[in-house]
Amino acid sequence: MKIVLTGSIGNIGKPLTDQLVRQGHRVTVISSQADRAGKIRELGAIPAIGSMHNPGFLAETFTGADIVYLMETLEAAGDFFDKDVDFIDTIDQIGQNYKQAVVASGVKKVVHLSSIGAHMKEGNGILAFHHNVEAILNQLPESVSIKFMRPVGFYTNMFSFIRNINAKGAIISNYGGDKKEPWVSPLDIASVIAQEMESPFEGRKIRYIASDEVSPNEVAAALGNAIGKPDLSWHVISDEQLLSNWLSIGMNAQIAKGFTEMQASQGSGVLYEDYYLHQPALGNVKLHDFAKDFAKAYHQQL
Ligand SMILES: NC(=O)c1ccc[n+]([C@@H]2O[C@H](COP(=O)([O-])OP(=O)(O)OC[C@H]3O[C@@H](n4cnc5c(N)ncnc54)[C@H](OP(=O)(O)O)[C@@H]3O)[C@@H](O)[C@H]2O)c1
Repeated sequence: MKIVLTGSIGNIGKPLTDQLVRQGHRVTVISSQADRAGKIRELGAIPAIGSMHNPGFLAETFTGADIVYLMETLEAAGDFFDKDVDFIDTIDQIGQNYKQAVVASGVKKVVHLSSIGAHMKEGNGILAFHHNVEAILNQLPESVSIKFMRPVGFYTNMFSFIRNINAKGAIISNYGGDKKEPWVSPLDIASVIAQEMESPFEGRKIRYIASDEVSPNEVAAALGNAIGKPDLSWHVISDEQLLSNWLSIGMNAQIAKGFTEMQASQGSGVLYEDYYLHQPALGNVKLHDFAKDFAKAYHQQL
């Protein structure tokens, strides 16, 4: 099949491209960076250099595709430390660009990378943009089939713990404790998406994707053991304290509030209510597997 991927060769895009090429598909990968073309070709795919902000470029690139994979990224909206960016509005516009390009190109099968929390209009913090983009794509004509992929939090987010482990000797967040929550590897997400692309499309479908279910304290123990700090703890601070820490280093207020509220909803469990009603089979990559990658990154940054 002819498949067009947005998301370049990022966390999901790279393993997804690799898998789809190995399965014999003709894969086109959209990147905003001309110097990414060589790496895309090395994976056996065709580079298409342009932006998700450009509906004309998207329509042209999607034309003739059997399936398009659509993702929207905060990175495309701006820098987290730019106080003037409205991330939610900018990403909603990317959703509109995708809708317009799907109609103009005549593509009939869409896989959309959404997220845990997309079922919530509010109370999910920064994830509100995923709710909005699902709603925008749901306005496409019924002749367009869409598979909405809702992964939970990526293990790779845990790399951001390294700074506080070094500076404060602990993982610090506005939630914690012993209640398990789901986490996912981008490798498992790529496998699920590749599998969904090869199975029939009909109407609109939502699928959650997760790899393991572990508590914050279990995360601290696993990462601590992997880096040779078996006493590593997950320390909880208030929402107000976390927000004030982020604002004090100059973070965009929408981003700071959005991540604080998202993490609070992880802690209260409200973010996971719909997930537990539609709980998926777990993928192959477990926390102890990711802990090895975490240890490598931790030691490299020391
Ligand atoms: N992290 C989590 O826990 C989590 C959980 C659930 C859902 N999600 C969602 O997953 C998505 C992130 O997926 P990912 O990690 O695979 O992405 P990623 O690794 O951040 O890759 C996204 C790529 O998009 C490309 N890009 C940036 N701006 C662009 C533009 N203007 N036009 C075209 N391409 C552009 C960049 O590649 P180039 O530099 O080559 O252009 C970038 O590497 C987000 O929607 C996020 O909300 C994340």
